[in-house]
Formats: sequence, C-alpha cells, structure tokens
Amino acid sequence: MSEPLFQVKDLRLSLPDMSRKKLFGPAPRIDILKGLTFDLPKGEIVGIVGESGSGKSTLGRVLVRLLSASSGQVLFRGQDIGRLPEEQIKPLRRDLQMIFQDPMSSLNPRHTIGHIVAAPIERYGFRDSKMLALEALERVGLPGAFAQRYPHELSGGQRQRVGIARAIALNPAFILADEIVSGLDVSSQAQVLALLQDLAADMNLTIAFISHDLSVIRTVCSQVIVLNHGEIVDAGPCEQVFNAPQSEITRTLIDAIPLPELDDHWLEQVALDEA
Ligand SMILES: Nc1ncnc2c1ncn2[C@@H]1O[C@H](COP(=O)(O)OP(=O)(O)OP(=O)(O)O)[C@@H](O)[C@H]1O
Ligand SMILES: [Mg+2]
Repeated sequence: MSEPLFQVKDLRLSLPDMSRKKLFGPAPRIDILKGLTFDLPKGEIVGIVGESGSGKSTLGRVLVRLLSASSGQVLFRGQDIGRLPEEQIKPLRRDLQMIFQDPMSSLNPRHTIGHIVAAPIERYGFRDSKMLALEALERVGLPGAFAQRYPHELSGGQRQRVGIARAIALNPAFILADEIVSGLDVSSQAQVLALLQDLAADMNLTIAFISHDLSVIRTVCSQVIVLNHGEIVDAGPCEQVFNAPQSEITRTLIDAIPLPELDDHWLEQVALDEA
C-alpha cells in the first residue's frame, strides 16, 4: 500500500473559551481535540462522524490548515503542515480544497457559475481558466449552458455540484466536505454521493467526509472515524466499525439509523415465513 496522504499523530487543539473570559487576563482554554492519531489513505473517502460539538469541523479545519494544532503532527505527504510558515502553505492550498455546507452562502450571487469556478483557477495563474472551469463543470454533470447562469437559477443539488466543480478544478489531492448533503433532498443526496465516489476513484482524490448521519457515511465511505468530545472512540473500515463497534457511542449512532421503509415485498415475505 502506498504512503497515506495524511498521517496525524497525537493531534491536540485547545482554543480560548471566550464565554468564560474575565475582563482582565487571558481567557481560559478548552481542549477541543484531545490527542487524535489516524491516517487518511490516498484515493479514499473517509467519514468523520460524531454528535454535534464532538470536534468534526474543527478537525477538518486543521486538515486544510485553516487552524493549526496546539501540539502533535499533521503530516501531509510527510510534511508537517502545522509547522510550515504561511508562505510555504500557500502553494499547498491548491491541494487542500473544501466544499461548504451551504452552497448558496459560498457562491457570489452576482457572478455567473462560469466566473465562480474560474476565479480560483485564475488566481493560480492559469491562462486557460475558462476552459478548465468548463471541464470541471462538465465533470460534475453541469455542461455548457450552466456557465452562463447565476446561483439563484440552480437547484440545491446543482449548486452543490458547482461547489464540487470549484474544488476539483485545480486537481487537488484532498477535499474536506463538511455536511455537504445535509440540506439536500434524498435523491439529490444520492447523486452527489455517487459523484464524490466517481471523483475519488478517477482523480485518486482523498475526501474527508464529515456527517452526523451514519447511513450517509455507510453509503459513501470506505473508512470511518467516530469522534466523541474530541477523542476517537472508533475507527477503521466501515464494515468493521458497523459490524463490531468498539464503543457505546458508535452503537448509539448505529441504532439511530432509520430502518428502510417496509415495502409490500417485505410484508409478503413475513406472511410466507409465518405461514
Ligand atoms: N473558535 C472557537 N472557540 C472556542 N470554542 C470553539 C471554537 N470553535 C469550536 N469550538 C468548540 O469546539 C467544540 C467542537 O466544535 P465543532 O464545530 O468542531 O463540532 P462539530 O462536531 O463540527 O459539531 P456540529 O455537528 O454541530 O457541526 C464545540 O464544543 C465548540 O463549541
Ligand atoms: Mg461541524
């Protein structure tokens, strides 16, 4: 197996707790991530799941270096991104992309879709940014004419595809996807999840897929990390974690997955079994 894209070792993060800050002196700090150790393999979608406030988004922000660890190592291709000075982070930003939860708030309503996807490409100095933007849009299933449209003219699922197009346009190594299907209806969700799986396979892309919904994680991820109060309580290949959860927290999350709707076929089967 090739070297993992990320190797995270004893990652700790504490932040000042402004709610307990007194008028004078520094705010007391709260520990948000408490010694996380895990790898993210290349080309795989790894789910990060846990209750609200467990530290999922904070961990995601550390991976794309919007936040720096207080201690421990975050090795990206063997390089500790927590220790790199800002000027050495800049070239890495191209490889570390993110997709936001609410596509509407992250897409400028006054710009066309083509412009929105081309802007970050231009920033990296590519002359053929329009072509690359069109290619990226096509890759996510939004061909030609969509480039001329504005965000409000698109459905929620289409807007989320624009977010994905913008993230993949520069051929990154890693995408952080934080609750990106939570606002979508079930069929748009399924389409976006299938798209992510295609992209991960085709582009050898590693995706950290944050969700509070284990059934979504099970559909799309090969591995999963379960967080609770800033600690890893379960981790491993999805099937292993689902079939033999190591913690009560994971069992509770699994029990919360709704059962699929019972259809007539199922009822027939029950009738046969009982006959
Ligand atoms: N800037 C900050 N300053 C202080 N505390 C913070 C800050 N950001 C997050 N926290 C705290 O860190 C903890 C983890 O927050 P985080 O947003 O990572 O959780 P989450 O798992 O993403 O939750 P959700 O499912 O609700 O999105 C929470 O208790 C939160 O209040
Ligand atoms: Mg969050």
